[in-house]
Amino acid sequence: MVTIVVGMQWGDEGKGKIIDTLASEHDIVARYQGGANAGHTVVYNNKKYIFHLVPSGILHPDVTGVLGNGVVIDPPSFFQEIEQLEKNGVNLKDRLLIAENAHITLPYHKILDRIEDEKRGIGKLGTTGRGIGTTYADKFGRIGVRVVDFLNEEIFTKKVKISLELKNYLLQQYYKESAIKPEQILEEYRLYRDKIKNFATDVALYINKAIDNGKRVLAEGAQGTFLDIDFGTYPFVTASNPISGGACTGLGISPKKIGKIIGVAKAYTTRVGMGPFPTEIEGELNEKLRTIGNEFGATTGRPRRCGWFDAVIVKYAAILNGIDELIITKLDVLSGLKTIKIGTKYFYKGNEIKHYPLDSMVFENIEVEYEESDGWEENINNISKFSDLPLKAKRYIERIEEIVERKITAISVGSSREQIIKR
Ligand code: IMP
Repeated sequence: MVTIVVGMQWGDEGKGKIIDTLASEHDIVARYQGGANAGHTVVYNNKKYIFHLVPSGILHPDVTGVLGNGVVIDPPSFFQEIEQLEKNGVNLKDRLLIAENAHITLPYHKILDRIEDEKRGIGKLGTTGRGIGTTYADKFGRIGVRVVDFLNEEIFTKKVKISLELKNYLLQQYYKESAIKPEQILEEYRLYRDKIKNFATDVALYINKAIDNGKRVLAEGAQGTFLDIDFGTYPFVTASNPISGGACTGLGISPKKIGKIIGVAKAYTTRVGMGPFPTEIEGELNEKLRTIGNEFGATTGRPRRCGWFDAVIVKYAAILNGIDELIITKLDVLSGLKTIKIGTKYFYKGNEIKHYPLDSMVFENIEVEYEESDGWEENINNISKFSDLPLKAKRYIERIEEIVERKITAISVGSSREQIIKR
């Protein structure tokens, strides 16, 4: 059976820690979308690990990590991450697989991603610059390079040369940048091709067989629901489908095989990059939350924008993802705040809007109605039972549960594995 873990906000919900916790009960942890734009943080034995491409469950020695066909793979980033993990004593031998039909990010994808975003000027998306949108654009434009193409030198050479004809025209004529020589890529990537061979397989067959043999699979979503290319705050989104449905197309598994879907939401909201953010907090408190919650992008180091918990979007995410349960992270960050707010209703031009609006013009000009409650003073980092939480913290959790209409099954109160309250 497959369990999916999905982000309910704009990414950075703390999925890394949750996946690491759940991984001990699974045999396979599989990424189904996104690429090296992700930054999943896991703290284990006082050491901080940041995963970009390698699945976050890999610290458990019996887990096999899988990158599905829906992921875009940047070879230098992938091998750098492996090297770093091995340096830290994590043995990855024979327990990391890549789908042969996953697409490869090449240097021109990264260059064009950065140049294109700059060119957007005021409409800049604030991408991570990892070549995500440009790799997916080539995939859907049917000029992408899959792992299996990469492994075949003749096909790879042909594809790179064809791609570069157009990319170089764009780079030189439109962006006034210098051209990229195909030989440069072919030479540099020869090394990666030899290494990637050992990881490449038909992941769909592998996972389906594993499921049939009773293995437990954890599908690890990267980014979050409101960065989804279809349902997010378009165009301020990533280029893949982080929602739970993406796990089926991104791994080659049937919806019938999905046993459970777990949504992860932070006790407040953050967003990195541009785009509308209705519950964003202005001024000093924004800074305070950022400092206490260490809200800086794990991939780019950029400061994250901080805001109150937005129950309207989380409720919508619960429907879209069909979550069975919700996990709330970083509740400890709210300790010490005098007042805590939950965004409960949206208004546009004086009228209530019952759901998250897909019209970006509406979403950008939304007014939020909040419910306010008193905060709690106590440090909650070492609490392990729900009943031991301060009354106001318990009420906060129960109120979210009521509005979102999903059971909250766990609450994370710190970065280490032990700091979790199970209910
Ligand atoms: P891209 O995925 O690099 O194309 O970036 C598109 C948008 O998604 C930007 O606003 C990024 O900041 C955001 N984004 C991409 N990956 C993550 C992530 O892992 N966490 C949070 N935001 C992300």
